[in-house]
Amino acid sequence: MRVRTASAITAIAAGAIAAGSLCAAPGRGGSDAAPLPHAGPSHAELFTAEGGPVAPGDPPPGVSGTAPGDCAVCHAEIAAEWASSAHARAWTDPIFQAEYGLTRQTFCRHCHAPLACDAPEPGPAASTVAVPTAAPDSDASPGASGGAHAARGIDCAVCHVRDGHVLGVRGGGGGEHAAQRDARLATTAFCARCHQFDFPRPGPGERVRYHPGRPLQNTVVEWSQSRYADRPCQECHMPRAGEAGGSHRSHAFRTLDDPALMARAVRVSGQARRRGGTVRVTVVIAPGEIGHAFPTGDMFRRVVLTVRAGAARRCEVLMRHFAQTITDDGSGHLLGQVDDTRVPPPGAGPPASLDFELVDPGATEVAWSIDLLRLSPEDALDRGFDAAAVERRVLSGRLAIER
Ligand code: HEC
Ligand code: HEC
Ligand code: HEC
Ligand code: HEC
Ligand code: HEC
Repeated sequence: MRVRTASAITAIAAGAIAAGSLCAAPGRGGSDAAPLPHAGPSHAELFTAEGGPVAPGDPPPGVSGTAPGDCAVCHAEIAAEWASSAHARAWTDPIFQAEYGLTRQTFCRHCHAPLACDAPEPGPAASTVAVPTAAPDSDASPGASGGAHAARGIDCAVCHVRDGHVLGVRGGGGGEHAAQRDARLATTAFCARCHQFDFPRPGPGERVRYHPGRPLQNTVVEWSQSRYADRPCQECHMPRAGEAGGSHRSHAFRTLDDPALMARAVRVSGQARRRGGTVRVTVVIAPGEIGHAFPTGDMFRRVVLTVRAGAARRCEVLMRHFAQTITDDGSGHLLGQVDDTRVPPPGAGPPASLDFELVDPGATEVAWSIDLLRLSPEDALDRGFDAAAVERRVLSGRLAIER
């Protein structure tokens, strides 16, 4: 089994991440910025090297505006899917807002509010907020700090409108509005702008806590190491939806609330043997139809495997572990990844194999469960969340105890 490190040390708020004000760089974005350059039918850059800001420009001819409500008139199903997605909540998401309340970096808005990077720093965010039961309206609803543009999160315009043109994979559009063909929308590189990035380098005078230039989210590198590196992210995360004939690629980007997707994510096998009063259990978690590590994404994500025999209970946490390590120039210590106990991407390493000893003389079977947590229970409490609201059961099962 791989080496484990104390996990208390990992319960550190991203709060200390320092970053430069790249949004403020001249000549980028903003309503009065120069139009994005063209390269034939395609735009040279859909996103700047650092992510936002994004300037969609004027409404495309035939469309009343660039807000989701303007597109929903004709794309009702897609708009409803989008409104239920994490992309729609990228700014209003209470877990993001709680973290942003502690950090407040322009850097964060590059991806969580790419339409509003250049807006003045919004007012104080609530540090204690309730997890919502419903998604916000598809229309801009300035519920959270940052105004209407920030509240739109990652909307249709962020992904599809540049310089007053609708961009689509096919091009041509439907007569209602012409669409420019942009094949990049169908590639992993399109998602990579926001789903693969490093801890930022600090601006002048800013304190740095994490090793700059090391991955904060590593999903695309994990994908490139996986057996599914020939399948773009869209193939798993934008499945076909809607009526046959009128079907389209889903924009809901569901993960934890899609039981079918979660059930395919990992394959679990195990064995339990009795030795006197002790039950020895081995659980092996192998990656299934997943294009990266399990879990992936944000540094706070973790998976908890729990095994129970009678009254005895044990658990193990699968996550990226962070601790103080020496800087490259040897001048001090910063937080950096020291261990990774997650289930590796398929084909990129041995499956996670976990051993336990449970003391219960009477038990005849072992019950196991796997939960995915958005935050550790301590971080959840710290930020005012009910721990149950940030975790989701992925799989569970039973093993007979062999004698
Ligand atoms: C996170 C980026 C993202 C957001 C936000 C987004 N889209 Fe898309 N959309 C895509 C990608 C990527 C594709 C192409 C997928 C493919 O074919 O590989 C697509 C495809 C489409 C298509 C073609 C659908 C088909 O399969 O026939 C339409 C229409 C569309 N989007 C409309 C919208 C509308 C309207 C909104 C807002 C309500 C929206 N999109 C928001 C990324 C996005
Ligand atoms: C007046 C109706 C109407 C409005 C408003 C509208 N669309 Fe469309 N759009 C269509 C039709 C019709 C098609 C072609 C059929 C399809 O792909 O759904 C289309 C196609 C698309 C495509 C696919 C193009 C391709 O080449 O793959 C995208 C992307 C798209 N629209 C995005 C948007 C976005 C973003 C908005 C809002 C800014 C919007 N549309 C507003 C009617 C509309
Ligand atoms: C402009 C930046 C941006 C782009 C482009 C983008 N995403 Fe995202 N995505 C985000 C952010 C930010 C979140 C998290 C929002 C939150 O919950 O706070 C997210 C959330 C998600 C989630 C949900 C994660 C969860 O924990 O449930 C999935 C899945 C996802 N994105 C896949 C994709 C794929 C696939 C693409 C390419 C088609 C893509 N994204 C393009 C920024 C982006
Ligand atoms: C072979 C299918 C497959 C491919 C390809 C794939 N994913 Fe996933 N992804 C999954 C499954 C299954 C889950 C649910 C398990 C989970 O939450 O980790 C998931 C979960 C996620 C999550 C939620 C984070 C988490 O672990 O809770 C994000 C974000 C994400 N994927 C982004 C991406 C991006 C970006 C790409 C492309 C680089 C991609 N995925 C490629 C199958 C895939
Ligand atoms: C380069 C793009 C990018 C930047 C910059 C960025 N994020 Fe994110 N963030 C994402 C993506 C993509 C996800 C979704 C990954 C996942 O679901 O695990 C995410 C997820 C999160 C989550 C988890 C949300 C949830 O519902 O669990 C938090 C919290 C968060 N980000 C906070 C921040 C803060 C604070 C900053 C600034 C210090 C920041 N992010 C900067 C792209 C970014």
